Amino acid sequence: MIRSLLLATAALTISGPALAASGAPITPAPASDTPREGAFVLDARTVIAPAEGDAQAQASARYLADLLARSRGLKLTVRQPKPGERAIMLTRGGPQGETYRLEVAPQGIAISSSGDAGLFYGAITAWQLATATPGQGPATIPARIIDDAPRFGWRGLMLDSARHFQSVAFVKGLIDRMALSKLNTLHWHLTDDQGWRLEIKKYPRLTEVGAWRVPAGAAAAADIDPRTGKPRVVGGYYTQDEVREIVAYAAERHIAIVPEIETPGHAHAPIAAYPQLGSAAAAPTATSGDWGVFPYLYNVDETTFAFLDDVLTEVVALFPGRYVHVGGDEAVKDQWKSNPAVQARMKALHIGSEAQLQGWFVSRIEQMLKAKGRKLIGWDEILEGGVAPDATVMSWRGTDGAVIAAKLGHDTILSPAPTLYLNHRQTNSPEEMPGRGQVIGLKDVYDYEPMPAALSPDQQHHVLGVQANLWTEHVRTEERAPLMYYPRATALAETAWSPAARKDWSDFADRLPVELDRYRGLGLTFGEAALKVRALAQPSGAGAQVALLGAEDVGEIRYTTDGSVPTAASRPYAQPFEAPLGTLVTAQAFRNGRALAPATATRIDARAVRTRVSQDLKSCTEGIVLNLEDDGPVRGDRARFLVDIMNPCWIYQGADLSGVVAIEAVVGQIPFNFQIGKDIEKIKFRPPATPEGELEVRQGSCQGAVVATLPLAPAAASSGVTVLKAPLKGVGRADLCFTFTQKAVEPMWVIDRVTLVTGHDR
Ligand code: ACM
Repeated sequence: MIRSLLLATAALTISGPALAASGAPITPAPASDTPREGAFVLDARTVIAPAEGDAQAQASARYLADLLARSRGLKLTVRQPKPGERAIMLTRGGPQGETYRLEVAPQGIAISSSGDAGLFYGAITAWQLATATPGQGPATIPARIIDDAPRFGWRGLMLDSARHFQSVAFVKGLIDRMALSKLNTLHWHLTDDQGWRLEIKKYPRLTEVGAWRVPAGAAAAADIDPRTGKPRVVGGYYTQDEVREIVAYAAERHIAIVPEIETPGHAHAPIAAYPQLGSAAAAPTATSGDWGVFPYLYNVDETTFAFLDDVLTEVVALFPGRYVHVGGDEAVKDQWKSNPAVQARMKALHIGSEAQLQGWFVSRIEQMLKAKGRKLIGWDEILEGGVAPDATVMSWRGTDGAVIAAKLGHDTILSPAPTLYLNHRQTNSPEEMPGRGQVIGLKDVYDYEPMPAALSPDQQHHVLGVQANLWTEHVRTEERAPLMYYPRATALAETAWSPAARKDWSDFADRLPVELDRYRGLGLTFGEAALKVRALAQPSGAGAQVALLGAEDVGEIRYTTDGSVPTAASRPYAQPFEAPLGTLVTAQAFRNGRALAPATATRIDARAVRTRVSQDLKSCTEGIVLNLEDDGPVRGDRARFLVDIMNPCWIYQGADLSGVVAIEAVVGQIPFNFQIGKDIEKIKFRPPATPEGELEVRQGSCQGAVVATLPLAPAAASSGVTVLKAPLKGVGRADLCFTFTQKAVEPMWVIDRVTLVTGHDR
């Protein structure tokens, strides 16, 4: 009945480019969105009406009702409408699979799809329409017809639960968030060197031993668990009942879970549990708190393949999806090279290299999975040494893996580092969570185009889709994970769902404040640090020059100097400005008049203009910087240091030394828990003059004269940061270089912040 009314509604001519570009604020942008005349008023009397006797339509209707109640305070009933009642109808027919049609007319809303997922996505879009304007209660939804379909079938996020364990509640919450963005694949990284997170009934030691570890560092070693008298362990694992619960929860949200069981490398944890699986002369006895690439590889004995077959039997019983990911990445072959039994096996099999042995190893596993009716996925290293016949390749070392795979006729998924590696910081703000130091901003993720230009149309069919990965070495708590994922996962979702021609950064940024308000309305956190504005000041005459940083590419910055919270009409920021010392700068970023994040207030005083946190210092070389968290205190806030672990050396560029009488440095120590093999020999330090070492400050360059020396003795025993101070007399402007003297890399000294102290502010 409603359908025929909708069809009678006249099409509206789109009046201007802004409307044409923006459409309704739905994210990811729908394939097509055509405005019509009139509007539908959604209120508490509207009913949500699933097709009768249709359990899936009923489930989507209830999901929509729940979202509306939680985010808009509208409590709609799910039932068939009485004559004359206004309804959101979920009807069958028309588009297939994940595609759907959504029609809004003054009389009602009709969502139609033949596919269960299509109905579900239509319901999500209806919720987005109802939350397009801020506030609670009734919503006026302009009439329109949306025809929507995904660009890619694989729209993924990866969660690393091995490096740090997350709760069942967290995983379910992530699944719910994915559903809001029409993401449909959760790649669950369940095993790695640092942890085995999946209960395997036949091999209980995998979790008894492999799921627990003592975190690295002196602070954790000193944190004795009174129950054991030993250092407290962290970790956990998912029982098979919990996994079944999570898999069912995901299925209800049309999300497939792809489990990853890493082979033949990243296997420290299972080898610690069952040493007979390993290739090294000496197996590890416990799971480790180190990061990086461990040397431990499974051996190639038939008993090891029997073990893997047993594990995969339990895995496929838990995960009903088509794919199982078996890793394959970063398997350094040293242990295979030096193991006589492995070498003998290679000879017997006429396998000429360790790379080919890995190819053979992965093919063996592919046969096991095939026998269980499943398909193998591996990281792009599985292309080396002969790729297994039906393997799907996940391209992480750039896009070459995807191109090679597709040209060879293999399916592939684009998941390249660093752009889609969400363990990278999304801003340089010191508020940013720990992670890899290279900044991968929201726009970097948005701008990523997954379809390699090098592929012919036929080969392009092998590109299943796109995925962003969150490795959790530096994501110690699950509360931090959403701050890394979002809003970048929202950008990824648009790349994965929306037609390439619909993608437009400016349009996405226009819709972003609405989407962020939806998250806030549901109590969902995201990386707000990247959207907040930060004031960075330097001395200028008797006052300061203030630069405002943040929300680059997304918003415009507005600010006040009278202590008031900015509005969209406050003074716009264009370039650094002069301000007297003592000024309170309050700044905020807006997009189309809507604030992106809370305002920040900074007092520009004599210390602020001469203080630099590690994130604002320049790394001396172009190495890989990490934003690392202190290992102490074990409980409570910990400092974060931006450091190049291969060359811990920082430069305060163009420091104003006039009037400076001393330097204050806040320093900490981090455990050097990185498996970097022989590269450790490349890390060089100047020798210490005192037993605990010194922080040395050089002027001009890192080879310049030492202008201040800060002995580290007062900081040596501290599990947190320590303030050190030494005289420093300077004139003019100069770069200052900071390095620590130390004998060995463990633990590594790091700078938290430095302040140049003038005669006035002592
Ligand atoms: C990977 O990042 N090693 C797949």
